[in-house]
Amino acid sequence: MTINPFYTRRIPASVPRFTPPRYAKLPLAPVNRSPVPRLTSLYHFDRAGEYGDRSYPGNCGGNLIRDLLLYFRPRSVFDPMSGSGTCRDVCSELEIPCDSRDIHGGFDAADPAQLPAERFDFVWIHPPYWRQKLYAADSRDLSRTPTLDAFLQRYAAVIANCAKALTPNGKLAVLMGDYCDREAGFVSLVYHTKRLAFDAGLRQCCTDIIRFSHGASSSRKVYRSSFIPGLHDVCMVFER
Ligand SMILES: C[S@@+](CC[C@H](N)C(=O)[O-])C[C@H]1O[C@@H](n2cnc3c(N)ncnc32)[C@H](O)[C@@H]1O
Repeated sequence: MTINPFYTRRIPASVPRFTPPRYAKLPLAPVNRSPVPRLTSLYHFDRAGEYGDRSYPGNCGGNLIRDLLLYFRPRSVFDPMSGSGTCRDVCSELEIPCDSRDIHGGFDAADPAQLPAERFDFVWIHPPYWRQKLYAADSRDLSRTPTLDAFLQRYAAVIANCAKALTPNGKLAVLMGDYCDREAGFVSLVYHTKRLAFDAGLRQCCTDIIRFSHGASSSRKVYRSSFIPGLHDVCMVFER
């Protein structure tokens, strides 16, 4: 009888249960005329920068937003899911006018009637990763949607509204991560983001930007189950 060694081999006690932080050597990026050479498809910054509030659930560092703004050079920014105001703070540093709103202030990004009349060169959204973290005690909050279908329906409305809010050459940047739980299984929210953006008449205008998730709260947790940890989220930039 053949024994598959994969199944019979014991994991030696010396194999660490936690992988300590390590340095990864990133591929060299080709020299080009980008005004922001550090902005590549692999985005790594282990300091979040002095933007927004790091203790806000779902806070993202501001460096990626800053680099996107330095690259695309918009004259106006719309930030309809502002959370702790990370994008607003970056815009104030760069002196770019920014309209920041959130469901916490009563603004529903999924409601077309609440869209500002103005059009923007750049829209930044970092929506809830469905129910991974709960935000406002308001049923219009995307993180409170009871099913995946309900979430995707409201997410589609947010993306369609953001598309409408763009000037003709405007860009919509979305930061999203995949989601997994016992009941729903693995949900590729990155795939759904692209599908919904394409359905809204947008096209992706540059590479996916894989943002290393330094400082995610999940990195300090211990789980009983076995899984492949996701250590990144994905920023996608779309245009009409
Ligand atoms: C991932 S957090 C954004 C965090 C932000 N990037 C920061 O650095 O603080 C998602 C935000 O979307 C907001 N939100 C959820 N549903 C919304 C809706 N329908 N309209 C507007 N904002 C909404 C939540 O209140 C939360 O602040």
